[in-house]
Amino acid sequence: MSTRFAPLKNDTFLRALLRQETDYTPLWLMRQAGRYLPEYKATRKGAGSFMSLAKNPDFATEVTIQPLDRFALDAAILFSDILTVPDAMGLGLYFEEGEGPKFERPLKTEAEVLALKVPEEGSLQYVFDAVTQIRTTLNGRVPLIGFAGSPWTLACYMVEGQGSREFHAVKTMMYKRPDLMEHILRTNADAVAAYLNSQIDAGAQAVMIFDSWGGALADGAYQRFSLRYMQDVVNKLQREKDGQRIPVIVFTKGGGLWLEQIADIGADALGLDWTVNLAQARARVGDKVALQGNLDPAVLFADPAQIREQVTAALQSYGTPSAGHGHVFNLGHGISQFTSPDAVSVMVDTVHEVSRKMRQN
Ligand code: CP3
Repeated sequence: MSTRFAPLKNDTFLRALLRQETDYTPLWLMRQAGRYLPEYKATRKGAGSFMSLAKNPDFATEVTIQPLDRFALDAAILFSDILTVPDAMGLGLYFEEGEGPKFERPLKTEAEVLALKVPEEGSLQYVFDAVTQIRTTLNGRVPLIGFAGSPWTLACYMVEGQGSREFHAVKTMMYKRPDLMEHILRTNADAVAAYLNSQIDAGAQAVMIFDSWGGALADGAYQRFSLRYMQDVVNKLQREKDGQRIPVIVFTKGGGLWLEQIADIGADALGLDWTVNLAQARARVGDKVALQGNLDPAVLFADPAQIREQVTAALQSYGTPSAGHGHVFNLGHGISQFTSPDAVSVMVDTVHEVSRKMRQN
């Protein structure tokens, strides 16, 4: 119901994604709620584990709002993780102190792969409850982004059982048993589409697909094992809710060589990592999609004047958006836990100031 939530006070982010005119370049940060914020660390300590934070809508709401109270960000992103989906498929997600995510029961055998199913309705209800509570608490302040992992990126964790550098297990399966790999990817695509559609029903106003490991694939393998399944997801998404278009952002880290192809799968915007030149990317995708990105997160370790210089260079590289073009400023990947919040303030204020001035010239 459209009357369920307060009207938006700041729609700059959604307008830029839809390639409509904006007064300035909106921004948000991948991992904007996280360990670089002392208030996040305090809440996390109280909650115990990462998953107890994510599974409790009160905590999830609190940490989602924390970065917005510090910085003039133009969007909120649901506090959760991409690995909630394989967790709900029964793989047993856990986080060990100081380490990345792991699964108790990774997919090792053919029988395990063939038993994989789209999670039951209700097993991810805690995520949808968090979405609704966050949207209600935002009270129209900025739009709320929902998200999921790409089918391929989820498969990497599901087969490896944890993060990986070489992707030995998942690539072995991909080359030796593409039939099994495709069974996982098809199941993941169905699960991710249903998951994102439920987030949209619960109140997400834009959705992003994180393909963090698509860039580990060979040309050819990327199109067959990652892009194709993201296209399946995009095809299945509801694109309008309560009369509002729901923009979709697709981000393949390391996907710079394939931008034209990624721009063709029906998303509204592409996320870019910092290896990509924004002016060239804009020329390559034309007015098909908006672009989101792409400052190297390590720029935030430099001094304020240097941060201003790099942020200005990125804005100028994209240039002033003309009709049919759109730019959402972001980092090229998640913010590092070693970032100073003061550096983030410098970046946020520079993006707003400089991009306003660029539109006046
Ligand atoms: O962006 C946001 O603020 C929203 C929340 C969010 C998290 N994870 C919270 C989180 C989002 C969008 C993600 C996505 C995610 N999770 C991705 C895709 C984006 C990317 O970074 O490539 C991936 C690959 C994961 C899997 C994952 N979760 C990893 C590899 C890790 C460990 C690395 C790390 O930064 O600690 C996590 C844990 C995680 N997810 C944390 C947060 C805030 C840190 C957990 C903690 O508090 O200890």
